Amino acid sequence: MNSTTSAILEILNKSTDFISGEQICHKLDISRTAVWKHIKNLEKMGYEIEAVSKRGYRILKKTDRPIPEELQKLLKTTEFATHIEFFNEIESTNKFLLELAKNGVPSGLTIIADHQSAGHGRMQRNWFSPPNCNLYFSNLIRPNIEPYKAPQLALLSAAAIYETLKELFPKLPVGIKWPNDIFIDGKKCAGILCEMQTDMTTIQHIVIGIGLNVNVQEFPEELKQIATSLQIHTGEEQSRSKVLASILNKLDEMYKVWLTDGLKPFLATLNNGSILQGKQIIVELANKEIEGLVKEIAEDGTLMIIKPDGSEQKIPSGEVHIKRF
Ligand code: BTN
Repeated sequence: MNSTTSAILEILNKSTDFISGEQICHKLDISRTAVWKHIKNLEKMGYEIEAVSKRGYRILKKTDRPIPEELQKLLKTTEFATHIEFFNEIESTNKFLLELAKNGVPSGLTIIADHQSAGHGRMQRNWFSPPNCNLYFSNLIRPNIEPYKAPQLALLSAAAIYETLKELFPKLPVGIKWPNDIFIDGKKCAGILCEMQTDMTTIQHIVIGIGLNVNVQEFPEELKQIATSLQIHTGEEQSRSKVLASILNKLDEMYKVWLTDGLKPFLATLNNGSILQGKQIIVELANKEIEGLVKEIAEDGTLMIIKPDGSEQKIPSGEVHIKRF
């Protein structure tokens, strides 16, 4: 947002009643036409502003878009979202941020979009990204860790989303599906895609991309049986800024603990929240399938299963299906 538009927003936010165009002109030393242009900018960003002649302007409704001006008031982070860029439309927040990361932008940058024209998930799948309803965001970090630990960040993010949703909506039947999905009552509500650039020993950067279905109510045919949103389950429209800021605050807090203590402090959350716990599953690996009973998510982030012959196996990654009998 342009700095004058932002200054006008602040004036409108502080005022409890109408504020006249003339007062705004004086405060900011700009013309009446300029004030009007900036008010129009705010309306384009989704703010509902009432304009009454001889009285002035007042905000009727804040924007629902998770823009930096709304988020920054709610954020307490020091590692995530230290810089934020918002786009009305972008191909993919992950793709954009991975490009920026190559050019050395600072760690902590978060890219948010209202709409993705080519959002993607794991295994080159599309990520359904319609406008005006959901959260699509990507976060850049450059942790000084060995590359083999990086996949744990998908689980850490899942634990952060899970805990946030439990806190905001205690009655919601939320669950974690190892390694990177959040489910509500058997349907997927959020997905996490971690992508990184690394050499054998060092990580250059990691992008953690998260898509969360917040207020979407209609899904395309192929997703109807398998996807859901917060609004579908709570019956109410939810504030995207509030949900996003809460997730970022939680992730930031957990990330700092993870850097020193690893996943151990989060194992209880991960295993209590796991929808796979104690289930018979089939794991799809690159060239084969493995069957087994889920024992637990282990400290290194792998999924421990007990195979039909009684032996245990650690699954480092893979697509899991719960076996239906
Ligand atoms: C999955 O479930 O396979 C992961 C989905 C990740 C989707 C998010 S939306 C924001 C970011 N940008 C993308 O293109 N993908 C991730």
